[in-house]
Amino acid sequence: MATTELASWYSAHGRHDLPWRETRERWFVLVSEVMLHQTQVPRVLAAWPDFIGRFPTPEAMADAGPGAVIEAWGRLGYPRRARRLWESAVRIAALGWPDDLTELPGVGRYTAQAVLSQADGQDAPAVEVNVRRVVERVTGRRLADREAEAAMVEIGAPLIGRDRLLALMDVGAGPCRPREPRCQECPFTSRCATRGPLELETKSRQAPFEGSFRQRRGEVLARLRAGPTPIALLDARALRSLVTDGLAAIDDTTARLP
Ligand code: ADE
Repeated sequence: MATTELASWYSAHGRHDLPWRETRERWFVLVSEVMLHQTQVPRVLAAWPDFIGRFPTPEAMADAGPGAVIEAWGRLGYPRRARRLWESAVRIAALGWPDDLTELPGVGRYTAQAVLSQADGQDAPAVEVNVRRVVERVTGRRLADREAEAAMVEIGAPLIGRDRLLALMDVGAGPCRPREPRCQECPFTSRCATRGPLELETKSRQAPFEGSFRQRRGEVLARLRAGPTPIALLDARALRSLVTDGLAAIDDTTARLP
């Protein structure tokens, strides 16, 4: 009975107007999932339409080269994702999509299953941080990865595939939020084992950005996005690490996007 509650909750309260939910194109879904992995929805909303307008196919991205992708990534953060997305585009443009999507650079099990369920209509359970929180709270215990997938299938039934993923994700972003969950508004309220945070729930907060090495890398990358820059003007250690990650290149005394 509670399961019908999930379906009707999702129909009334799901985030149906997110633009990447309107497409069934693998490429568009992959790009959205890579962006959403470490960046909040409002910032992805501001970036995704222009980004896929610029790179509407893997071929377009492969041809554009890594520098153009890193530039277009802008300030979404964690720019290694942009580099790996370009590498994936090159692989797909050359050989087609692999049977096992985790062969693509930067694509882990969650992203692979999320693409299969959203774009291909497969009933592939995909557990990201919001889904994990919901299923662990409802079952009342911490779950290993495959257990969480099995719990997702059980708790989400009769929804399957895409709707199950999006419904559980939205419950996790809404009533079953990390702090101060609103259990009265949750479709699982009558069957939830914890009705609130589980003890020792994983903290999913990102490392602080201010004052971090990540910030120093971000500042160097922002300058390179504006154009080639003399290396003498840049934070040397941050630049070296960007070069190591394939996010910057050095010609003689000048640094630039690769
Ligand atoms: N819709 C599809 N995938 C999503 C995600 N990872 N986060 C938020 N909304 C989504």
